Order: sequence, then C-alpha cells, then structure tokens
Amino acid sequence: MTATTDSPYLPAAGHDLLLPFYDIVTRVLGVERTRAALLDQAQLAAAARVLDVGCGTGSLLIALKRAYPGLEAMGADPDAKALARARRKAGRAGVSVHFDRAFGSSLPYPEQHFDRVLSSFMFHHVPPAERPALLAEILRVLRPEGRLELVDFAGPGTGAGVLSRWLHSQQQLAGNGEDTVLELLHRAGFSEPCLVGRAELPLASVRFYQASKK
Ligand SMILES: C[S@@+](CC[C@H](N)C(=O)[O-])C[C@H]1O[C@@H](n2cnc3c(N)ncnc32)[C@H](O)[C@@H]1O
Repeated sequence: MTATTDSPYLPAAGHDLLLPFYDIVTRVLGVERTRAALLDQAQLAAAARVLDVGCGTGSLLIALKRAYPGLEAMGADPDAKALARARRKAGRAGVSVHFDRAFGSSLPYPEQHFDRVLSSFMFHHVPPAERPALLAEILRVLRPEGRLELVDFAGPGTGAGVLSRWLHSQQQLAGNGEDTVLELLHRAGFSEPCLVGRAELPLASVRFYQASKK
C-alpha cells in the first residue's frame, strides 16, 4: 500500500507536543556531530542534487547548504509541523532548501534525480514492514553511481546508552541490527552496501551505512 500524507507516522520527537524541544535535545545528545560525520561521508563536493529523506526540522540540510552553497538541496518528511519549522530555520539561516511533505516510500521526484540521498535517524521511525518499499523508492530516485548515506541508532545487542535502551523497549530498534540493515539494502538492489562507521553518543550507539546504485 502506498503511503499518503494522511497515513500514520512516528514524528521526530515521538509526539507533536515535544517538537519544540527536538532541536535542543538532539544538540545536547551530540546529534550535530553525527550529522557532520554523515556529510563528510557523503563526499558532497562531487554531487549536484541531494535529498534528505525524513529531514525533520531540516538541520542536516541547513548544515549541508552552509558547507556546499552551490548544491541543490531537498528535504522530504511526512510531518507538516516539522517541515514548517525547517522552512523557518532555512529562511533564518539564509539558505535555499526545497521541502516536500512526503513519505520515504512515496517520494514526489522523478527517477534518477539525486546524486545522494541522506537519511539521518529516520530509519528507526519506519516500521520494518515498510522498509523494503522505502529503500526501493530511494533507489528509484538515485542516479546511477549515486549513493544512499544513512545513519541511525544501533540495533539489538549493542546495549550502550540510556536512549538506546529506551528505544529498544519501544521496539523501535528491532530490525536495526547491522546484518539486518545490510541485508535489506542488498535485497532492495543496492550495490555493495557497507557499514562505514560506528560511533558512541552520550546516550546511544550509532551506525553509518553507505550503499550505491549501479
Ligand atoms: C528522529 S527524526 C530525524 C529527523 C532528522 N533527519 C534529524 O536528523 O534530526 C525522524 C523523522 O522521520 C520522519 N519520518 C517518520 N516516518 C517516516 C517515513 N515513513 N518516511 C519519511 N520520514 C519519516 C519523522 O517525521 C521525523 O521527522
């Protein structure tokens, strides 16, 4: 089933009421450093058009545009409130980013449109049953030789961190194991998916993945 803008989704901070605190909490948790590492990993000097799937309040795209002003940057997220915040933040930062309200499994872009698709702490918000459709859609909008650059919390068995333990108890990290993510990327048709890094935040472990389109 294709997701429509009315389909349910898990918002950035778990609940709409907590959205105003999302940016400050993620800053305290060290998420900004993780996003910067994802941008380094993406080698964006070689890219022209980039999409952030599940862009939330737009922090990754704003950092991206500050570092690479010439890049065309787009963000997609089903959460209208997060997108409104993202647009305001981009305006204040004086950067041009195009934001669309959309689910990752139903992206409003043509085939082969992006050099890079970025995904930062979005994967654990997508129910495991929907992940194959999400990855197939990302593959569709990537150009040949384009890449998905993904970072998310580590899966079961990694143990570290209060936040990780809480997310595990909410079942959000089921399916985030390294082998499971790599297998999903492989099955979706990505070429040579790989784990490119592990990092520890104050309250959680994170994993960085990269996967190409042939
Ligand atoms: C934890 S937030 C991460 C936001 C942002 N990428 C960041 O690094 O701060 C997860 C985001 O995924 C979005 N999301 C949830 N389900 C989604 C789906 N099926 N497709 C795309 N985005 C989704 C949520 O609305 C939320 O903004």
